Amino acid sequence: MAYDEATPTTAFWNPFANMATLAGEAITIVRGEGSTVYDANGRAYLDALASLWYCNVGYGRAELAEAAAAQMRDLACFQTFEYYTNPPVEALCERIAEIAPMPGAKVFLTPGGGSDAVDTAGKLARAYWRAVGEPTRQIMISRTHAYHGMNAYGTSLGGIPLLTEAFAPLVGQIEQVPWDDPWALEKTIELLGDSRVAAFFCEPVIGAGGVYPPPDGYLSAVREICRRHDVLFVADEVITGYGRVGQWFASGRFDLDPDMITTAKGLSSGYLPIGAVIIGQKVAEPFWRSGSTEVFRHGYTYSGHPAAAAVALANLNLIEREQLVQRVAALEPVLATALAPLNGSDLVSAVRSGTGLLAAVEIDEHARAADPAIGQRLVRAVRDRGVITRLLRGVALQISPPFVITESEIGRIADAFAGAFDEVRRTR
Ligand SMILES: Cc1ncc(COP(=O)(O)O)c(C=O)c1O
Repeated sequence: MAYDEATPTTAFWNPFANMATLAGEAITIVRGEGSTVYDANGRAYLDALASLWYCNVGYGRAELAEAAAAQMRDLACFQTFEYYTNPPVEALCERIAEIAPMPGAKVFLTPGGGSDAVDTAGKLARAYWRAVGEPTRQIMISRTHAYHGMNAYGTSLGGIPLLTEAFAPLVGQIEQVPWDDPWALEKTIELLGDSRVAAFFCEPVIGAGGVYPPPDGYLSAVREICRRHDVLFVADEVITGYGRVGQWFASGRFDLDPDMITTAKGLSSGYLPIGAVIIGQKVAEPFWRSGSTEVFRHGYTYSGHPAAAAVALANLNLIEREQLVQRVAALEPVLATALAPLNGSDLVSAVRSGTGLLAAVEIDEHARAADPAIGQRLVRAVRDRGVITRLLRGVALQISPPFVITESEIGRIADAFAGAFDEVRRTR
């Protein structure tokens, strides 16, 4: 059947969009500077999202463009399968291992975003247990509200039903536990039997599921449970890695000593796509031990892409030089204080903040039930006030600005939210 006359003429199919209704609604972003992006009409928007939680150093950083250009002039690309390596890749992995919160870390680079990193970690978890003679350890456990990306492992591990029910199970042997209950994890492992469980996947701060900081004591309890049952602990730090919670990694902040960390986004601040799985000694050992014949038969055409690695390295250098991780720690209470008054709105059921530059404002469930479109109305009302936010899991508005955001810009975000909630309350 052909498209009808009302079908949009664009060929670009937006992720997560209803293409039937997008016509005339698309916003064309053409330029960015600091924490602000501009559309094709010259309208400025303060980006309260750092794009999708990643543009941590802000827009318009010429030195990252120059790092890409310089590397592309020398060696734009060359594969890293088997024998080959290149200087930016070596330097980047060295640097990541230095800042990683576990000693002796090894780094497996992925070419895209966090989804590649999660699939890599899922496959490596199973390959590890096979390599050490426990091939029955195949089950992976994840949490409700979890988001681990959209590749096969990530989709299957996901805890947001709307994002998984049309596709999963893609990967078998996955179990889910409530996001906030350590004893449910222990009970599940005991029921399944230690000898069948490979890994527990855990975002230290749940992100796309609605920004849930860990309940007090939760992370240390689940870490301990994994140790007791010899289950690998995989910290998914695709959002929290590289400074967003006021330390290089949330695993450092919460003292997790994970077996693997999945990362992407902030590694390059999104200037070029690249991700990394940081692998602790325990998991690396059977593959790296001298004389081992174990090979991790996995990798992507663009794993170890030199231009992306050069940009990521320049990005980490920039974060360090400008002390942006410390800046996030200093801004954590500023953001929390600025957003706190939103608790006074009868449309708000919770303001979650207090872990770095990560926050969410949850919309009251009765208001959502009365008006299912209220979330998108709020997103639009915030945008009408010159600020970009978005709806998480249909329930909460996201705030995760670039690390370079200023205190007065944080104030502008809070004002835009307050104005939007007020407007939507009045026009219900
Ligand atoms: C915790 C987490 N893991 C994995 C991913 C997937 O990353 P990407 O969309 O870059 O593939 C995301 C994306 O938001 C994420 O938040």
